[in-house]
Amino acid sequence: MAQISVNEYLGLYLDKNYQTLTNQANFVAIIKEMVPNLNWVGFYLYDGKELYLGPFQGKAAVQTIPMGEGVCGTSAEKRQTLVVDDVHAFAGHIACDDASNSEIVIPIIKNNNLIGVLDIDSPIKNRFDQETVKILEKAVDFLFDFL
Ligand code: SME
Repeated sequence: MAQISVNEYLGLYLDKNYQTLTNQANFVAIIKEMVPNLNWVGFYLYDGKELYLGPFQGKAAVQTIPMGEGVCGTSAEKRQTLVVDDVHAFAGHIACDDASNSEIVIPIIKNNNLIGVLDIDSPIKNRFDQETVKILEKAVDFLFDFL
């Protein structure tokens, strides 16, 4: 597709007339397609107690993550974006795909409620530079209206 931004692409597929699950599924597909060098993109959603695996693209992954555990549970508990330049140096990192070397987890909070996190892995160390973080956070902002 010629020169279209991530958010323009999302605008073509996300729609309030569709189920949240449908919008989330297309969201991860678009991020995986548009952002280079990623091996896993998906949601871990919050059920009020722990995180459970949502729509994703990549290898089969751990089904649930307790709050405070792994990169996802830590990001969810702190309600903070976490950029991990080298997952092997993150104590408590939960490995799902041996290919992963760096990771970003962005919490999704709507009206002060934790919906879950967006988890993205890359086979390249230090993959998530300022520019990529900005693109991903902008995409998550766009998604809020469709959750
Ligand atoms: N690495 C994550 C677990 C999920 S997989 O990366 C898909 C973590 O440490 O929370």
